[in-house]
Amino acid sequence: TANKMPPQAGDILVHAQESKEGQPIRIADLGPQLVRAWPQGKDENGDPVIRKGDPNNILALYRFPKGQLVAPTNLDATIDGETVAYSDICTHAGCSVGDSDINAGEMKCPCHSGQYDPKRGCIVIGGPPPRPLAQLPIKLEGDNLVVTGFFLTYPYPYTNENEWESIK
Ligand code: FES
Repeated sequence: TANKMPPQAGDILVHAQESKEGQPIRIADLGPQLVRAWPQGKDENGDPVIRKGDPNNILALYRFPKGQLVAPTNLDATIDGETVAYSDICTHAGCSVGDSDINAGEMKCPCHSGQYDPKRGCIVIGGPPPRPLAQLPIKLEGDNLVVTGFFLTYPYPYTNENEWESIK
């Protein structure tokens, strides 16, 4: 059903934090601290639906000053080379990843201390995760952040094309 589908091209990103849940995310809401988001699409009647029926759909958004986002981040899939979206689900065992409590601008998983660098494509920089967090391609449309396609690699729990194709 629509609320469990993975992010789809054309979805807008809305706040996941409880106090603002469902509010469309604006560029000005974002910075070097993690902001969690859900993709919001439409159901079969054309009504808005937040895709939080699958907790693996939670996303991590950052906006860094120009020049700080570098490869292997796909800059073409960011907004102005500054704003980037990733799956927020750890590739190790599926916990929701947060900001590092030690190093600013890094991410840390609360479960087994996996660490990721969101400025460098969320590559793994520590701990047990086997793969980077998957980047989700986005663009700005009016004031909305809009999904432009599928994840650029496989988000947790998918590890290969067959698994991922089955949910598209
Ligand atoms: Fe994230 Fe294990 S689930 S490090």
